[in-house]
Amino acid sequence: MSAHIQDPSPRQPGTATGFDSKELRRALGDFVTGVTVITTVDAEGRFHGLTANSFSSVSLDPPLVLWSQAIGAPSHGVFCGVERFAINILAEDQIELSNRFASSGRDKFAGLDIDVGVDGVPLLRGCRAWLECTVSSRLPGGDHTIHVGEVRTIRRATRKPLVFGGGQYLVADPHDLGSPPPGIGTSAQAQLHAVRLGTRAMARLSKEHDETMTLAVWGNHGPTVVAWEASGSPVSAQLPLGLVLSVTTSATGRALAAHLPDAATARFVAAELALADERSGVPADLNSPATQEAWQRELADVRRHGLARRTPGAFHGEQLIVNALSAPVLDAHGQAVLAITAVGDASRFDVGLHTPFAQALAATARDISRRLGHVAAPEEATHTHTHAAAVPSH
Ligand SMILES: Cc1cc2nc3c(=O)[nH]c(=O)nc-3n(C[C@H](O)[C@H](O)[C@H](O)COP(=O)(O)O)c2cc1C
Repeated sequence: MSAHIQDPSPRQPGTATGFDSKELRRALGDFVTGVTVITTVDAEGRFHGLTANSFSSVSLDPPLVLWSQAIGAPSHGVFCGVERFAINILAEDQIELSNRFASSGRDKFAGLDIDVGVDGVPLLRGCRAWLECTVSSRLPGGDHTIHVGEVRTIRRATRKPLVFGGGQYLVADPHDLGSPPPGIGTSAQAQLHAVRLGTRAMARLSKEHDETMTLAVWGNHGPTVVAWEASGSPVSAQLPLGLVLSVTTSATGRALAAHLPDAATARFVAAELALADERSGVPADLNSPATQEAWQRELADVRRHGLARRTPGAFHGEQLIVNALSAPVLDAHGQAVLAITAVGDASRFDVGLHTPFAQALAATARDISRRLGHVAAPEEATHTHTHAAAVPSH
């Protein structure tokens, strides 16, 4: 803590420093915290409370915590006169409560459902956790008073905590680079995790290469768009979610089908090939493989390159002619959980498999697959090595 830091030139309050208070606030805001409301009851039985993110742990044995309070805060006198307080650790849906307890001059408890702790201290409902404390000591801390409390009672709930940093409220999510959530082996969770990783990777690729990109999963009706990231000049003003794509003619459909069991894809493929046949014996879409054999060759190509493409074809419901390039993301069992696809105006978007963009797309999908527990087969690993330079840094 600051008491241990040797300051070579102790300063009096208000003397010049190399930074101004705004800069200090901004730097302190770089340290992300949870949000608490500290509550107490005074000798007359009146409830008091204020929002504080200065809460911190101090010691496990004895169990000590601290928070600091601005000397100028209207409730400073009250908190310096009580023997107990409670730390209400706010949950992520309690922003309104945080704002309410951060504003002076109103009855902060009006209309609130509260519980009363063992010593009569009010406890706010719906929090992530509650610590009831007796005051252990108070220390001067510049323009703040540091209240140190000994924890007497602990209550916890399973809600997610509210987070504060950089002057705004945040939500707490596991880090992409951390371990996958427990139970990732179950496919629904693996898919949700993949979508989360894919969304961020897609946003980064789209920004770096200025391409319109989309994420798709294999839904009940086949390849289904679940997210878009528009480029500076998107292919269309309409980028519809829930759009179901062709399995055989879209790059996305091919990327997914190449790594899904035949049992999942066969009826879609059969229907699309039959439809192409019906229309005068030539595929209705020039991208369409004419036969099962041609289709199997397409899939083998996708598996070999880690990329699928569609050469010029109409964009969903529009006259616009687009190209697309798609990379499958595989789970621990080697099955496609996601496809990351770039879509561009055919007059400009190159769907070559060896362009820097194509390599970055394939490398990104491989990287996410690896994080989902997919172990690349030797030939894929060689491919990875060849294009190692294209793996984006995180
Ligand atoms: C996220 C957040 C964190 C805050 N942390 C503190 C804090 O640690 N200490 C403090 O004195 N005020 C803090 N405040 C400001 C007080 O909540 C605010 O000044 C409040 O009005 C004080 O209550 P009072 O007016 O009843 O004294 C914080 C405000 C917000 C929004």
